[in-house]
Amino acid sequence: MTERAAARSWVLRGPAPLSGAVRVPGDKSISHRALLLGAMAHGVTEIRGLLRSEDCLATLGALRALGVEIVEGADGVAWVHGHGPEGLCEPETVLDLGNSGTTLRLLAGLLAGRPFLSVLTGDASLRRRPTRRIVDPLRAMGATLLGRAEDGLPPLVVRGGRLSGTAWTSPIASAQVKSAILFAGLQARGETSVTEPILSRDHTERMLVAFGVTPEREGTRVAVSGGSILRGTRLDIPGDLSSAAFFVVAGAARRGVDLRIEGVGVNPTRTGILDVLAAMGAPVGMERSREQGGEPVADLAVRGARLRGVRIGAGLIPRLLDEIPVLAVAAALGEGETVIEGAGELRVKEVDRLTAIRDELGRLGVTVTMTGDGLAVRGGARLRGAVVSSRGDHRMAMSLAVAALFCTGETTIRDVACVETSFPGFARLLSTLAPDCELREVRDDV
Ligand code: S3P
Repeated sequence: MTERAAARSWVLRGPAPLSGAVRVPGDKSISHRALLLGAMAHGVTEIRGLLRSEDCLATLGALRALGVEIVEGADGVAWVHGHGPEGLCEPETVLDLGNSGTTLRLLAGLLAGRPFLSVLTGDASLRRRPTRRIVDPLRAMGATLLGRAEDGLPPLVVRGGRLSGTAWTSPIASAQVKSAILFAGLQARGETSVTEPILSRDHTERMLVAFGVTPEREGTRVAVSGGSILRGTRLDIPGDLSSAAFFVVAGAARRGVDLRIEGVGVNPTRTGILDVLAAMGAPVGMERSREQGGEPVADLAVRGARLRGVRIGAGLIPRLLDEIPVLAVAAALGEGETVIEGAGELRVKEVDRLTAIRDELGRLGVTVTMTGDGLAVRGGARLRGAVVSSRGDHRMAMSLAVAALFCTGETTIRDVACVETSFPGFARLLSTLAPDCELREVRDDV
């Protein structure tokens, strides 16, 4: 799984309007957690709408290598046969997690409580993702973790053990860090708490309730009791708002567009993009609001508008972290300047996204300047087709495809196979909504 096969490109022709109604695949963060908590539970967990993307399949494959039985049915249904954390056994070989940073961090938390040796690695991008943020708290709880570069980079060696609860204060708002500590805490003696500077996505906390364990929450502090027993459950995974975001922006930025995206998760810790679009002049409607397994879900009604630049302050970043590349496209299409502050975490994603946004959108005619840990995007850009690259980052690839819909002429986006990590079928859905873009996929070596 480590390195991807033949490089592929998309060729799109703009400008291309879009309209219609679609559904996006299941939420990536929730799918990872459903598999991992299902493996930690006692009994069978039935998961409907599981995202079968490369990242989630990395979690599924790693759990199987740890001895967990997972049966896959048709249409994204899976059954995880959990026997509690003690049902996991030492893997015979290194666990290759591909591109999945979420699997790396969350699984390390789970394995910190297991009394055996595991080695976690992945592709070249994953091997550059920082691990110190989980190594420190998991060590403080009693696990042994070793990595490259003073334990700051994978491969990561985990020898779990008898853990003691901790009261950890995390300097960064990271749901991966929080979840890793809580997964370890469920196996520790006593109480484990995590306090973060700003509340990060709370899918783990909500899903624990579905498994029969209610964490204690007070502000940005959340705590679990060690030894709590999780019971297998039934979960329905909502559509991923981070995937819907590409179509939401493509629709919101063109006047006259009427677009509907059905069954999308609208957890308030994730909906920063909708708040920003409303401030930019394109409020997105939420219809048929309902709840699925403790997660709010709605149909999104997108109407195109003339967008205007806004300031996105550091306090909002955790609620729209993964949407910044596509929001930069919205900013370029709006009037006036958009300033994004406190987004330093983007430098340690699949690629350095701040640099990637500046340079790749720059090739399409957008002026983006780096401002320390943020960006300033000049609006009113006249986008023109060019050859750009995702740099191997799925969210960059899809953001550039959205930008291409607003370019004059042809845009070639190189290295798009990475889209499989989070959104299989993206190109097909985009072609359905915007047939005039005549999206073609070509192999880079022909
Ligand atoms: C995720 C948390 C976020 C996000 C990532 C998924 C998760 O990362 O960017 O795509 O599922 O917990 P951080 O925890 O590093 O902020």
